[in-house]
Amino acid sequence: MDNVKLSNDKRKVIILNQTKLPNTEEYLTVEKAEDMFDAIYYLKVRGAPAIGIFAAYSIYCLSQTISEQNYDGFLGRFVEYAEYLNSSRPTAVNLSWALERMKWVVLNNKNHSINEIVDLLEAEAEKIQEEDINTCYNISKYGLTLVKDGDGILTHCNAGPLATSRYGTALGPVFLGKEQGIHFHVFVDETRPLLQGARLTAYELMQADIDATLICDNMAGMVMKNGWVQACFVGCDRIAANGDTANKIGTSSVAVLAKYYGIPFYVMGPTSTIDMDCPTGAEIEIELRDGGEITADYYEKPMAPGGIKCYNPAFDVTDHELITGIVTEHGICRAPYTKSLFEIMKKESRI
Ligand code: MRU
Repeated sequence: MDNVKLSNDKRKVIILNQTKLPNTEEYLTVEKAEDMFDAIYYLKVRGAPAIGIFAAYSIYCLSQTISEQNYDGFLGRFVEYAEYLNSSRPTAVNLSWALERMKWVVLNNKNHSINEIVDLLEAEAEKIQEEDINTCYNISKYGLTLVKDGDGILTHCNAGPLATSRYGTALGPVFLGKEQGIHFHVFVDETRPLLQGARLTAYELMQADIDATLICDNMAGMVMKNGWVQACFVGCDRIAANGDTANKIGTSSVAVLAKYYGIPFYVMGPTSTIDMDCPTGAEIEIELRDGGEITADYYEKPMAPGGIKCYNPAFDVTDHELITGIVTEHGICRAPYTKSLFEIMKKESRI
């Protein structure tokens, strides 16, 4: 199933509403800038690569609504829309990365008509999505070399096809392995407070008939101690130049536990998630979200006393020293990450 796609008339974006899974498969059609902003903010579309793909299609649709037909007027409105969409969530760099790519199309084609620029924007958005499919396939291929048939893999949050297009990143090796007759047992952290593991990862794995066990986040240490986990695979939202990695809140606790129990901890992500302008994790902006996500959402009634103070960071940063390897579409980076990430980004021609 496509989690992000253009409508037939190419003026709207259709998404699988991830907030309704696993109980309802609801597709939403979004057309207005505010609805696009909300779709990202409320995690109807989520996962770093999927957010980037959605933003690219969204800005393409919005560019068709810009009435100014002179270049400067068009560019001005385009940038306003791009900045607005970009302000919906701060941590996943893929959002600004995709919008920047789309902006470059406008900047590099100043001598074309507005209609031609809009057509080029459509092509670029499609390219971003197509590239993501290949990227995820390659990450899956490299990831598969890190584990063997029968291994237990622990994952946190959701970095599967729903968060990307096809395969996913952290779940990619598991899906690719299944195609090749290599089987794993996946331990799925439920991932409080928004339950991406319980709702989305468990759903994806069950749909693909992959052996999976759901655990609460605080059970990860127990399954590691029991010897059931041979590797941890997680996704990422922003990787700093030194390898420090922002991912869903709770990821860094998994990495600390993995280190204690001597289990390799791998981060899987496309080079579009590497931010060479961000020297260390300390510079990564961490999204803070409403406390109601902890106390009330996904419960029939609030399960904490009204008025309790809440601290609800959506992501945390895993120190590069806890990361065994960073798996990209161009290969596996190992410490020292400052050097290996630089080399991989040279292949990508982004530095
Ligand atoms: O808040 P979310 O659900 O968008 O957070 C998603 C994650 O943390 C994923 O692990 C990450 O985006 C990688 S998705 C391939």
